Amino acid sequence: MAKVNIYLGREKKNGELGDWVTLDVSKPRVGVIVGKRGSGKTYSASVLIEECLDRNPRAAYVIIDIMGVYWSLKYPNKNVKELNTPGFKGLIEPKGYADKTRVLVVAGDVKKYQKGTYDGTLTITPNMVSFDVWLSVFNLAPDEPQAMLLKSLLDKFEDKTYSIQELIDALTEELETGRYSKQTIVSLRSKFEYAKSWGIFSKTGMTLRDLAIPGVATIIDVSESSKPVSALLVGLLAEKIYDARKELARIKSWAKVSGRSVSIEDKNIPQTWLIIEEAHNFLPSRERTKASTPLITYVKEGRHPGCGLLLVSQEPAALDTKVLKQIDFLLVHNLSHKQDVEAVKFIAPSPLPRDLDSILIKLGKGEALLSVTGSEVAKKVKIRPKHSIHIARADIAEDKDVVELGEQPFSIWNEYERLKREVVELKAKLIEYQKRAGSKSSLIEKYMNEINKLKHALEKKDQVISELNQRLAEKDSIIRDLESQIKALQPKKYAVSRLKQRLLNSIAGALRDTIINELNSDAKSVLSILGEHPRISLDDLQKSIPSKIKLLKALEKLNAKRFIRIETINNKDYIILNLDNLIRRLSVEPLSDEDIEYVIERIFGLGII
Ligand SMILES: Nc1ncnc2c1ncn2[C@@H]1O[C@H](COP(=O)(O)OP(=O)(O)O)[C@@H](O)[C@H]1O
Ligand SMILES: [Mg+2]
Repeated sequence: MAKVNIYLGREKKNGELGDWVTLDVSKPRVGVIVGKRGSGKTYSASVLIEECLDRNPRAAYVIIDIMGVYWSLKYPNKNVKELNTPGFKGLIEPKGYADKTRVLVVAGDVKKYQKGTYDGTLTITPNMVSFDVWLSVFNLAPDEPQAMLLKSLLDKFEDKTYSIQELIDALTEELETGRYSKQTIVSLRSKFEYAKSWGIFSKTGMTLRDLAIPGVATIIDVSESSKPVSALLVGLLAEKIYDARKELARIKSWAKVSGRSVSIEDKNIPQTWLIIEEAHNFLPSRERTKASTPLITYVKEGRHPGCGLLLVSQEPAALDTKVLKQIDFLLVHNLSHKQDVEAVKFIAPSPLPRDLDSILIKLGKGEALLSVTGSEVAKKVKIRPKHSIHIARADIAEDKDVVELGEQPFSIWNEYERLKREVVELKAKLIEYQKRAGSKSSLIEKYMNEINKLKHALEKKDQVISELNQRLAEKDSIIRDLESQIKALQPKKYAVSRLKQRLLNSIAGALRDTIINELNSDAKSVLSILGEHPRISLDDLQKSIPSKIKLLKALEKLNAKRFIRIETINNKDYIILNLDNLIRRLSVEPLSDEDIEYVIERIFGLGII
């Protein structure tokens, strides 16, 4: 991996300033800055942070600021004398890191801070705090009864979101069970009541992703917060950063081995440096069994997954030096206490000069001895002036050099907070819309089901209809059949009349045969006249026939054969054609006048007579 060098200052050799002294931060390092009060530790730590922000923006930097001084990183350095320190004149331009530093204060303490010295507030949810962190916060050893009670209490709540009050209530209930002594329960309960008063807990807290932002130094200013709050934050951050980075490393290596691409979206916590002032409070040498488990894990195992650490302390002898046996670099400012110098000797990662004690005691402000792992011997360094202004607690207290801050720099963090709130709102909206879309699609599904059901029903009805049509058609044909049958049954006029015709024809035939065969020509002639005049007087008849015809004989014959009848009215004889009566007598069935007419026509119509 390519080196990422940061420039801390210039080497001081035999009273002369030499080359720039660099430190490679391409990988997260573990370093310690020690020195007595006012020797320049915070100043040097600030230079390291400035350099990292400028040259290594891939990593995130989280500072637990116990003194409340790091906010000054936002303002450009106006101290001309400082900027013109011999050896650095014209090399360090004044500049503030307003956009690259974000100061958060504990929500419950926000009123204690001056506006313009912070960008936002910090809260955490109680369930973020693990058993180990609670132990360190409450300064409990894991085998104490209170610790055991705490463990059973947290197990009961598991990963649920809960408030401190709920923990307190659960402890009050515990008093009834008699499993723990009253003393134990009440002691733990009062600890949680104290924790509640810190004003850092809420039901919606920040996550590590809110705090570890690449290229940004998140300064958690706890200078106005209760003492244990910093212990809580150190433990919490050490644990969360370590866990997150370890998980990320595991996912990445699994992806590498398996050759699969894995989504690390919400787990993508950058390499993070944790910067802790007054470090001896969190990694104490005397109370090995208590308090410091998450930080010890972080120091010992954090480097590989990418957890950087910078511990700053004025009491190196009070630090757990055993844990610090394998640090990457050590920056030692002026020190005089023998025990402290011994501690430095113990943890230095490279050989130290033989006359260490006298060198350390002579170091001026802003001068330090730098020991880096893998290097020959520790170097004396003149730390470079800061780009940003430096506020020293001691200076404030002594009212020295009241610094002019100048104009308040524009802060992007208000905008950042606003955008983050917007993102949260949009996410909630998205979820709502997704839900609505979900319910819409379930509605659509419901309607589709209904539609399908209706379609099915329609199809069935169609089928029924076509069945009915078919049956109707069948009925129709039956009706037609029946109709034709009925027709067949109806009297056949034509046939009937033909039958009658036959009868009439045969009557006519018989009569004609009689006329032709049995009548002489005179009688035939008379009959044909009668055919035209069916009722005629004898006189008229006589007049209308030729004289040679023997009329009387003919009439006699016709009368005998009943073709005529003679009637006498007023002494006048009338000859009347009697064919109708004759025909009626010959017929087996009654005949109408028309039938009679028909027969008569056939008798005369053929013209034989
Ligand atoms: N490299 C430096 N260049 C110039 N002034 C420095 C330098 N280092 C420290 N000082 C000054 O020394 C004083 C104490 O430094 P500081 O870092 O606050 O001490 P401490 O070791 O207590 O953290 C401050 O007034 C600061 O301005
Ligand atoms: Mg300091």
